[in-house]
Amino acid sequence: MPATDTVRIRLPDDRNYEIRIGSGLLDEAASWQGLPKAAAAVIVSNDTVAPLYAARLRERLQGVYARVDLVALPDGEEHKDWASLNRICDHLLGEALDRKTVLFALGGGVIGDMTGFAAAIYMRGVPFVQVPTTLLAQVDSSVGGKTAINHPLGKNMLGAFYQPERVIADLDVLDSLPDRELRAGLAEVIKYGPIADAGFLCWIEDNLDALLARDKAVLGYAVRRSCEIKADVVGQDEREQGLRAILNFGHTVGHAIEAGLGYGKWLHGEAVACGMVLAADLSARMGLTPAAFVDRLRVLIERAGLPVQPPKLGTERYLQLMRVDKKAESGAIRFVLIESLGQAGLHAVPDAVIADMLAAHGAA
Ligand code: NAD
Ligand code: GLY
Repeated sequence: MPATDTVRIRLPDDRNYEIRIGSGLLDEAASWQGLPKAAAAVIVSNDTVAPLYAARLRERLQGVYARVDLVALPDGEEHKDWASLNRICDHLLGEALDRKTVLFALGGGVIGDMTGFAAAIYMRGVPFVQVPTTLLAQVDSSVGGKTAINHPLGKNMLGAFYQPERVIADLDVLDSLPDRELRAGLAEVIKYGPIADAGFLCWIEDNLDALLARDKAVLGYAVRRSCEIKADVVGQDEREQGLRAILNFGHTVGHAIEAGLGYGKWLHGEAVACGMVLAADLSARMGLTPAAFVDRLRVLIERAGLPVQPPKLGTERYLQLMRVDKKAESGAIRFVLIESLGQAGLHAVPDAVIADMLAAHGAA
């Protein structure tokens, strides 16, 4: 069983926090000690994850907080909306919970993003802790303080930057994760290679079978290295004034696929995986990266059991959806492109180049 790893996020104004990664952390008293003191804690989860893990978390938290409530939301990306956010707020207000109340996000990225947003706005801010239970949430969404809900016109369009107090990533909870969700999480792991660490990309290629077989030590390394890369980027550019945008490699097309098909049809990680292949292709078309890289990435993504063929939404619809992307500026669509292996940057791409690329992939 691998030992606990700790990755630190370094931020100004005393907002540093730890990401603890290891087996058995949910049941370890130390995971829950040293958090902000409060009369009450509220676990926010969903109707899939709560029956699996909420009782265990509650038992641990009862050693720390006099009162521990549970709010279980409906499961699914399609419920990452105002109605779910309101259910959290309704509970907090209905129970007259004070501004010291600590929220615990127990679930995947959907729960983490919504709980973080609720924590950011309830009484102008209460503390929260991320307890990510999907691979995707452990390697990406629980780290870095982006919180949001979706809008029918655009993914994650309503939200706030708001950092957690701590992240507890227990590798054992991944045992119950469906295979499709594990693969979706691998998309965000793969992302870190091309944008920041060519050596990590090689490591993923070499260890993909062990990752798919859920080898704990290999998964633990993937979570740690991913968090190290993300912590480094967020520490330099918390509010995405520049560098942090590289974490959105594959997301411009990915978000368009999610919104265009209707939230929940494709998993976020699946849409990002396909989006990375298309963004790699754009990188080649813009003369930044050799065509061989596009093939290399496509092969890896296919090996991970992730989609490489975009849905046929039509060029106009893709362009319309991508113009709502947060990286768009004055109507120009900007993509994270790979400049050389392990280095990425934000580039405006002419509509004609995007249209050619979409046509070449059967998406037009
Ligand atoms: P998710 O939260 O929908 O979880 C996936 C599914 O797995 C759900 O059905 C969930 O109930 C289930 N599940 C979760 N943990 C489980 C477990 N241990 N055992 C069994 N089932 C389990 O999806 P996700 O892939 O975790 O997150 C995707 C979301 O994260 C998207 O909304 C995306 O926008 C967001 N995201 C945010 C950031 C960020 O920086 N804030 C980064 C990446 C993605
Ligand atoms: N997942 C993108 C970011 O955290 O910036």
